[in-house]
Amino acid sequence: MDSLSGEFACAFHPDQEDSMTEQVPLIRLDPLASDHHGEAARMRAAGPVVRVLLPGDVVAWAVTDHVLLADLVTGKYGPVSKNWRNWTAIQRGEIADDWPLIGMIKVTNMVTSDGADHHRLRRPVTRTFTRSRVEGLRPRIEHIVASLLDALPAHADGNGVVDLRQHYAYPVPMQVICELVGVPEPWRPRLRALVDSIFRTDTTPEDVVATQRDRHTLLRELVDLRRGEPEEDLTSALIATNDHDPEALSDEELIDTLWLLLTAGHETTLSLIVNGTRALLTHPEQRDIALGGDEETWAAFVEEVLRWDAPIGNFPARYPLEDITIAGITIPRGEAILAPYSGVGRDPAHHGGDADRFDITRGITKHLAFGGGPHICLGAHLALLEATLALPALFHRYPKLSLAVDAGELVPFPSLFSNSTTALPVRLTEEGSTV
Ligand code: HEM
Repeated sequence: MDSLSGEFACAFHPDQEDSMTEQVPLIRLDPLASDHHGEAARMRAAGPVVRVLLPGDVVAWAVTDHVLLADLVTGKYGPVSKNWRNWTAIQRGEIADDWPLIGMIKVTNMVTSDGADHHRLRRPVTRTFTRSRVEGLRPRIEHIVASLLDALPAHADGNGVVDLRQHYAYPVPMQVICELVGVPEPWRPRLRALVDSIFRTDTTPEDVVATQRDRHTLLRELVDLRRGEPEEDLTSALIATNDHDPEALSDEELIDTLWLLLTAGHETTLSLIVNGTRALLTHPEQRDIALGGDEETWAAFVEEVLRWDAPIGNFPARYPLEDITIAGITIPRGEAILAPYSGVGRDPAHHGGDADRFDITRGITKHLAFGGGPHICLGAHLALLEATLALPALFHRYPKLSLAVDAGELVPFPSLFSNSTTALPVRLTEEGSTV
């Protein structure tokens, strides 16, 4: 697959474009995300509303200005659906089931539903994620964090290098969400491989089809297991509510809801822990401030990571139910609009001329890392609790923590949706030291 990241592509489907649309810059997005923030900056420079070329030469739109995006997701410009059935390209049969982005789009749960249906699908899970219910998980998360920190030295290779993504950033949220949802421990590596595949945008058509099939099988097995042997977990609770609720979720909705919770519930927090660790390891003066600070300092640090290096890159997709005009540009009904959440985190029009600078003392600035409007992240309290426990504990426990490679050598995770690196090689102690 070619990837002309940041270059303006021309002459795409000229027969389908009217002359106004043709004048809107069209930017090819790099499915490998080789230069995530550079690409976002080029999108912003091209205009507040741009067209983007996705893998397979599928055209979508993106709103690159923080304020305009915030207004779009709250419906200020007119009704925008999240239901892929309203995407005219799908209606016309132009989007194949083995397209690399399909797994993030063609699902049936709260993320892809509107209005009363959205409410029906979101309501049964909201209770689990209220601030007070989440706060009740604190001791368990502290225990998980402490055990994983204890185990880190055992994961060092012959050169004393540990992949922090693999052995810390991934298992913290994975263990938390799997315990909440009720995924048995032996199933988790299989689940992890599927989640990894769904977020990648460099996958082959065969991978895409296999992932869709296998994730469905795994969750079907989970529903069957908990129907036979209910436990104190969300899957059992959803099944039980379902049996008595006139607004019950269909089997398909139940499976896709569990999939949403397991994917949204750990890939994003994983990226937040990776990006937060990387930010402090590459900004020694900020690390000193964080380590010399209190709980509030660490909370401000996590907010700044969410703004400066947001876990979600370009989130799919919204489809206007009528033509909408944003900043003088008309997006036709039924076209797909991406939300570049990490890109708007560095929008200088909103965050100031130094938006590219990582600064935990800048004072809380409103970011869109958790989205906005009716689909605002349902797990934000949980994500914040996990990050504000996992990150300070890591730096306090291993005060000599350092990157084992140059920051420029870190390989971006190949995804249009997820913003982090494929690995985070670190040394826990000074080279040659064991303490
Ligand atoms: C740092 C971590 C996280 C980030 C950055 C994040 C970000 C987001 C964003 C941007 C959205 C809105 C997407 C849209 O525009 O439609 C969203 C929705 C959602 N998130 Fe999170 N999320 C995080 C953690 C979590 C966790 C831990 C859970 C727990 C299960 C979770 C569950 C959800 C769900 C269920 C939705 C769909 C809400 C709806 O459509 O009504 N997220 N998240």
